[in-house]
Amino acid sequence: MRKIVTYYLSASMSMKKILWRILHRAIINRYKGSELVFLNYGYEYLNPNDESLKLKEIDEKERYCLQLYHSTVADVELNNKDVLEVGCGRGGGASYIARYLKPKSYIGLDMSKEVIKFNNKYHKLPGLSFVTGNAQKLPFEDQSFDAIVNVESSRSYNDMNAFISEVHRVLRPNGYLLFTDIRTKEENELLRERFQRAGLKVIKEVNIIQNVVKALDLDSQRRYQLIKKKTPKIFHGFAEEFSSTKESKRYEEFADGTMIYIQYVLQKE
Ligand SMILES: C[S@@+](CC[C@H](N)C(=O)[O-])C[C@H]1O[C@@H](n2cnc3c(N)ncnc32)[C@H](O)[C@@H]1O
Repeated sequence: MRKIVTYYLSASMSMKKILWRILHRAIINRYKGSELVFLNYGYEYLNPNDESLKLKEIDEKERYCLQLYHSTVADVELNNKDVLEVGCGRGGGASYIARYLKPKSYIGLDMSKEVIKFNNKYHKLPGLSFVTGNAQKLPFEDQSFDAIVNVESSRSYNDMNAFISEVHRVLRPNGYLLFTDIRTKEENELLRERFQRAGLKVIKEVNIIQNVVKALDLDSQRRYQLIKKKTPKIFHGFAEEFSSTKESKRYEEFADGTMIYIQYVLQKE
């Protein structure tokens, strides 16, 4: 799996597109929207006194994945705002934000046209739409959005500077980038510098790795079951690494501090 991740990170944009297409297609063929609308590691609150997020029954199943979105956007008012999400995957976060936080409009963008087709069929809500596009060349006019959401998608972008510069271009003055993803500590130093150099001011930066590990601990059983039920045995190892169940290498890297999970609130200056 380590080899696959290294290969994936250094692959060309078109190869990544093909790999995501294969993966999304496989997931679409196996899992209904009612079973799986998130593809992230999740987030759980550490303090037992933290008030639990009140969710509708239908959202409970993927609570931890949904909480990763909630914690990423919670510091900024999205009500009545124009919001773009880059790398929306199967649209669970987009649907959560559209239903609970009521932006004026919410566009979910992903490079995989398969997953966009799935989202447009499965998540039908007023003000919510999905488009195919590349994070490094956003198909929107300058200053179109009040906020941009980016959850666990950026690490593999071939040109992170291009993504950041596109974010700056399509944000309105004082607009926000609400960002979360995996990095090593060194990669995060570079990332912070890139944001600042591009004119995105750091309002908040927090390492949420303990929250992510706790979520994986609590969610591992559900992840195993999903894999066992629908994935051919030969792919179990890969599927377990992809979803970072407890015996996976990625889980180890999270637990031993090799990787951190960073969350930013950034504001266009
Ligand atoms: C790990 S998934 C996370 C999906 C979703 N944010 C979630 O938390 O459930 C990463 C997503 O980013 C998308 N992606 C990767 N590179 C991209 C790019 N250059 N432009 C747009 N989307 C991209 C992939 O197709 C995939 O759906």
